[in-house]
Amino acid sequence: MDSREIKSGIFSVGAIDWDRELFDALIPLPDGTSYNSYLIQGAEKTALIDTVYPPKKDTLLNNLKNLSVDRLDYIIANHAEPDHSGSISAVLELYPSAKIVTNSKCKEILKDQFFFNDNQFIVINNRETLSLGDRTLEFIITPWVHWPDTMLTYLKEDKIMFTCDLFGSHYSTSELFANNEAKYMHAAKRYYAEIMMPFRKIIKKHLNTIADYDIELLAASHGPVNLNPNHMINAYQDWISDDVQNEIIIPYVSMYGNTTRMVEYLINSFVKKGFVVRPFNIITTDMGELIEASVDASTIIFGTSTVLGGAHPAVANAAFLLNAVKPKTKFVSLVGSYGWGTTVYKQLKSMLFCLQAEFIDPVLIKGYPGNEEYQQLEAFAGHIKEKHNNNTLSAAGV
Ligand code: FEO
Repeated sequence: MDSREIKSGIFSVGAIDWDRELFDALIPLPDGTSYNSYLIQGAEKTALIDTVYPPKKDTLLNNLKNLSVDRLDYIIANHAEPDHSGSISAVLELYPSAKIVTNSKCKEILKDQFFFNDNQFIVINNRETLSLGDRTLEFIITPWVHWPDTMLTYLKEDKIMFTCDLFGSHYSTSELFANNEAKYMHAAKRYYAEIMMPFRKIIKKHLNTIADYDIELLAASHGPVNLNPNHMINAYQDWISDDVQNEIIIPYVSMYGNTTRMVEYLINSFVKKGFVVRPFNIITTDMGELIEASVDASTIIFGTSTVLGGAHPAVANAAFLLNAVKPKTKFVSLVGSYGWGTTVYKQLKSMLFCLQAEFIDPVLIKGYPGNEEYQQLEAFAGHIKEKHNNNTLSAAGV
């Protein structure tokens, strides 16, 4: 995509990756993504904020050439991950006198990855400013959104906060700006779940810092520029809060249909009790959807057949991922069917060590569920309803 002007002298010069299907060889990208890079022209100096994923570097370089940028003074590195820093070397080939401006942790990681020299850097401290003449950049060091090196850059006169990964979305669109329409917010929530949720508690602290700034535009390095920062910041306040919704998610796999029968019984029972239930057959599901659903869910109930005494590997994979992203889920349990014996509950519990949730005794049955087993499931659903009631969940009806 050609460069686009955000405001006079401020351009989006990065690349849209319409067709990318997977991020980090892990995260499905149903809407592609973008690697945003922003050019800021001041009266005396010119700065570039972040670069792009290396396979897209020609887009960035062509945009700079087409804007007749004959001098670049600063390359601001908000984050060392290569989707933003991987083209710094290519930009430096075009503008060899430009300095990389970043914090000390980001410098360390950039040097590990790209073998830059110390004299190529200007290292800044938290809240330090850099003048471009008539425009001023302020750097706010915000570790762990997404790596320990991350920082935000605030353009004071124009009230634009450049946030790199924070508030981003894997959402490719020809629109330069987004105004929090549903599809974009869905992508932003999914992005939060996949990338930011493990750092929920740290983000709370950073949001307090951000509240000190008057922000008219949020310019992340993935997805469109946000025209309504308060809406996005409020959404983050909700997602990072300890509040959960009256929702149960059930990631499950069934080999011979018995676990499916148990899951279907539970869905009906929970719906009658006023819950929203979202089952995910792990064999066919988009794992990003499951992780997004975990942002608000009060309860996760895994459903698995037994394979060699343990969980089906697909359910183990889902448990591993959910443990890594650390949802604020209050209750976790398990249902499933086995042939002759199982240690699946012990196994799954040990895999979910990052969740600060109460584990509820599972319902594990031998073979095909009959009346007695369905009664067990009914008692199990009732027990979970009681747990919800006792925890005064935010949604009504439980
Ligand atoms: Fe978009 Fe952490 O990189």
